[in-house]
Amino acid sequence: MYANALVSLIALAALSHRVSAAGCTIASLDDVANAVKNCTAITISGFTVPAGQTFSMKNLKSGTTVTVAGNVTFGTGVFWSGNMFELSGTNITFDGQGNTFNGNGPFYWDGQGGNGGLTKPSKMMVITSSGTFKNLNVLNSPTHAFSVGNSSPLTISNIKLDNSLGAQPNSQSGGKAAGHNTDAFDVSATGTTITGCTVINQDDCLAINKGSNIVFSGNSCTGGHGVSIGSIKTGGNVQNVTISNNKIINNQNGLRIKTYVNATDASVKDVTYSGNTVTGATDYGVIIEQDYTNEGATGTPTNGVIVSNINFVGTTNNVAVASGAKEVFVLCGSGSCQGTWDWSALKVSGGSKGSMNFAVKGFTL
Ligand SMILES: *[C@@H]1O[C@H](CO)[C@@H](O)[C@H](O)[C@H]1NC(C)=O
Ligand SMILES: *[C@@H]1O[C@H](CO)[C@@H](O)[C@H](O)[C@H]1NC(C)=O
Ligand SMILES: *[C@@H]1O[C@H](CO)[C@@H](O)[C@H](O)[C@H]1NC(C)=O
Ligand SMILES: *[C@@H]1O[C@H](CO)[C@@H](O)[C@H](O)[C@H]1NC(C)=O
Ligand SMILES: *[C@@H]1O[C@H](CO)[C@@H](O)[C@H](O)[C@H]1NC(C)=O
Repeated sequence: MYANALVSLIALAALSHRVSAAGCTIASLDDVANAVKNCTAITISGFTVPAGQTFSMKNLKSGTTVTVAGNVTFGTGVFWSGNMFELSGTNITFDGQGNTFNGNGPFYWDGQGGNGGLTKPSKMMVITSSGTFKNLNVLNSPTHAFSVGNSSPLTISNIKLDNSLGAQPNSQSGGKAAGHNTDAFDVSATGTTITGCTVINQDDCLAINKGSNIVFSGNSCTGGHGVSIGSIKTGGNVQNVTISNNKIINNQNGLRIKTYVNATDASVKDVTYSGNTVTGATDYGVIIEQDYTNEGATGTPTNGVIVSNINFVGTTNNVAVASGAKEVFVLCGSGSCQGTWDWSALKVSGGSKGSMNFAVKGFTL
């Protein structure tokens, strides 16, 4: 009895030693290299990352658990163009426990994002790990929030990105919304699920540039440019995407596929939209366009990107646009929209109809 208790006590002590080993807590950038190299249970305590330096947790040991125990603030005072936080490794469990990574965006915001003006950090969160990444609040990303590039399955859940302050002008933005290019999730990855996340931003809530087996479900997106596949560039292939049960509130667009003018050797295929709710879209409810450029749409689509099997099926997608907006716009290049497009689970309302140059099944404007 006594011996058993002693054994459990020793086991417990050993376990707690493993979990809280001094070298496995990160309380400054000086602690990172050792923790990454030597630990499989890492705690991040609240601290400030000096501006101009990347908090990089790359090549973690397989199976590592990373637990956030306090707020991490990215310092200001330096205009620089690196990434703020990086995470890689296989089968990594990252649990933010409801703590905040604060990007201090207002210091960098000038209404121009990545297009000019002040030098800004490139990406706030570069996640190429597989496993899970959950329960983190991300506040005020300078530009892009998450760049997701896993090659083995990764589930991202319960992330709250709050860039709501960026919707207002500041002293550096000349009257424009201060936050710009604040994409929530830029995905070039295989086997990514993003679920149960809440986003308030000023650009795409989701932008899938390439990859396959991607699920975006049960998220809420407010104030940005909508849920996008693209912009697809030359060589960008996207396949097997499910976008379901999301709420897309007061965005420029609801659901969008955009391919670059003159892009070639690229494709978007097997996309399913189900159970999404779009409200208050100010430009388009559903838009699929092959005339995209960063400077705006040309109006003349090109056909080097094949777009096939784009379906609205399963639970009804309710798409309500603002008055003055268009409900649906489809502009395919000559012969580059292909396969079956079953749109029987799409209902649109609220604006002018728009137009479609490709015939779909189960839906008419
Ligand atoms: C890993 O831990 C060992 C001792 O357990 C130590 O000697 C070594 O310096 C640590 N590695 C790093 C990168 O600090
Ligand atoms: C993943 O890591 C966990 C520990 O966090 C471990 O229990 C599990 O066996 C690992 N799975 C694989 C497939 O390596
Ligand atoms: C962490 O940051 C959030 C968001 O700014 C704040 O509400 C919370 O009070 C902070 N927590 C601590 C312990 O400072
Ligand atoms: C499509 O992606 C889902 C989610 O990752 C996956 O479960 C499914 O097997 C994929 N389908 C095909 C045909 O690869
Ligand atoms: C697309 O290619 C055509 C022909 O080369 C060229 O005239 C046009 O400027 C290109 N458009 C864009 C937006 O690059």
